[in-house]
Amino acid sequence: MRPRHLLGAAAAATLGAALWWRKNPSACPYGQRFWVEAPHPIITRDRLRSVLRPQPGERLLEIGVGTGYYSLDLAEWVAPDGTLELFDLQQKFLDHVMRAAEERGLSNLVPTQGDATDLPHQDASVDAIILTAVLGEIPDAAAALREIRRVLRPGGRLIVGELFGDPHFTTRSSLERMGRDAGLQLAETSGNWFGFFARLTPQ
Ligand SMILES: C[S@@+](CC[C@H](N)C(=O)[O-])C[C@H]1O[C@@H](n2cnc3c(N)ncnc32)[C@H](O)[C@@H]1O
Repeated sequence: MRPRHLLGAAAAATLGAALWWRKNPSACPYGQRFWVEAPHPIITRDRLRSVLRPQPGERLLEIGVGTGYYSLDLAEWVAPDGTLELFDLQQKFLDHVMRAAEERGLSNLVPTQGDATDLPHQDASVDAIILTAVLGEIPDAAAALREIRRVLRPGGRLIVGELFGDPHFTTRSSLERMGRDAGLQLAETSGNWFGFFARLTPQ
C-alpha cells in the first residue's frame, strides 16, 4: 500500500474509533492515563480558579479525578480547613492522586470510589462540584446531573470543563439543556469554542 493510502486508512480508523467512542460512553481506563496527564490548554488551572472562586474552608467535590490534573491545586485553594473530596469510578485513579497529595504534603483530600449517578453524599451538603472532561464518559449523564443538583447546597456551584478533541466533548448548548433539565442554571462560561469552563448554579 502507498504511504498516502496508509495515512488515509489510519486517519479513517482514528475517526471511526473516535465516533464509536462518542456513541458508546465509557470511563477512560487507567492504562490510558497519558491522555489526562497531557497539558490541558484553555481549561487551565488559572481559568478554573477564576470561574470556581474557591474560598478557604469550603467543601469541594471533584468527580472524575483522573491523575489529578486539578486536584492538588483545588485542595490547596480551600486549605487548611476546607476539604477536597475525590470521587471516581476507578480506585487506581484515586490511589494515584492520593500518592501525589502525600508527596506534596497535603492532608485535606478524601477519596471515595463510586459512580457519579449514585453519590453517597447527603442532600445540600457540598459547596462546589468540579467535573472536567467527565460528563460525556457517563452513560447516563442526566442522572449524574440530578445527583449533583441534589448534593449541592443552595447557592453552591457546579463547574464543568470541556475540551474539543476529547471524543466525549459536551457542547455548551447541550450542557445548558441537560443542566436546565436537572435544575441547574448556566450562570457563566469562560473559554472559547475549543474549550471552556461553565459555572452552573442550583435553581
Ligand atoms: C478523561 S478523565 C478526566 C480526568 C480529569 N478530570 C482531568 O481533566 O484530567 C475522566 C475521569 O472520570 C472518571 N469517570 C468516568 N465515568 C465516571 C463515573 N460514572 N463516575 C465517576 N467517575 C467517572 C474516570 O474514571 C476518569 O478518572
